[in-house]
Amino acid sequence: MMQTQERTELDALVDALSENASKPADEARAMPPGVYHSTGFLALEETEIFRKQWICVGRAESIPETGDYIACDILDVPVVVVRGADGVIRGFSNVCLHRMARLLEGKGNAKRLVCPYHAWTYGLDGALIGAPHMEQSTCFDKKDYKLPDVRAEVWQGWIYVSLSANAPDIEDHLRELGATVTDRYQMENYVETFREEHVWDTNWKILAENFMESYHLFRLHAATVGPHSKIDEMDCPPGGAAFNYHWITKETSLGLGNAHPDNKHLEGDWRKTTALITAYPGHMITLTPGYFWYLCLQPRGVDRVHIVYGGGFAPEYVNDPKADEMIADLKKLLDAVNVEDRIGVESVFRGARSGLASNGHLSHLERPNFEFGQYLARSFRPDDVQIEHAKKERHA
Ligand code: FES
Ligand SMILES: [Fe+2]
Repeated sequence: MMQTQERTELDALVDALSENASKPADEARAMPPGVYHSTGFLALEETEIFRKQWICVGRAESIPETGDYIACDILDVPVVVVRGADGVIRGFSNVCLHRMARLLEGKGNAKRLVCPYHAWTYGLDGALIGAPHMEQSTCFDKKDYKLPDVRAEVWQGWIYVSLSANAPDIEDHLRELGATVTDRYQMENYVETFREEHVWDTNWKILAENFMESYHLFRLHAATVGPHSKIDEMDCPPGGAAFNYHWITKETSLGLGNAHPDNKHLEGDWRKTTALITAYPGHMITLTPGYFWYLCLQPRGVDRVHIVYGGGFAPEYVNDPKADEMIADLKKLLDAVNVEDRIGVESVFRGARSGLASNGHLSHLERPNFEFGQYLARSFRPDDVQIEHAKKERHA
């Protein structure tokens, strides 16, 4: 049972978060340090966010064939998403129904899901189709066994999973993000070319917040992308209930960052405009007219974040002979930027955990961070009408 004192501390923390979220953006401060290291706060995030909302696990076009799968964990729940013979991507529990071994690891292709422990075998619809040496178990009937379904839905090429039956359909949930930001890019047609998994020593929100502001580029990334970043090229309009974003409106020196000549759907300045998107809780996308890269974040304790890190290019570049070379160069740059970010976000976690930490005011360039705090507060206090999410004018 949670001790009364812990409850009081947790309440005080959520009160402080909510109070900050209720202010106008230009009065906002960073979130209180405790949200990054309190185990009670993490438990609340796990229950109210990660077990209830939609969590991105990867790209649909990266599992194009029948039997292609991605094994992933939603917190401590093993899940697998797999493409069936009918082309539909389905989610299942990735736990064997015999004695609970994990069925699949990583990413791959399987015509059948065979348990590595005693070889119970499931079809791509989750039904048990084989179980060796079970003939003498008189009450056993294969027909009684089917892997539990886990909701998996695809939105604009992204596979989202939810452990909750009550989460709204992903199309409804992210419609405003599409209309405001992504529809114009036709993100569903982008093609993933790399996908990796990492674990860093920081709180998941610190990495999320690092991604959602470009304020730090000129300093933390002074050795890489910093010199190419100008503050007046960043625009941070209000986001929506399920997302925040900002624009970077410059032509990129990297050819791949601008629309390909064969791209006929982006016009004018959109051909050189990049969107930096956070679909809450932790799906971060850098979407340019020519390429994209992304992170899918989940907590593994207060002090570790699990990261899916992937990227690829817009379809017009798929057949461009220079695209492979360009994406390899881009990957090198992104990796170098990630090294700098890792140093930054691991340092922030150590700072947040130190007894002397306090939360300073936010810059206008950290408006998405302010909205992220509002989203968290709304997730924990859905009936608190003081916590407004911005609904102001959209970027045209
Ligand atoms: S635990 Fe899977 S077959 Fe025994
Ligand atoms: Fe960064």
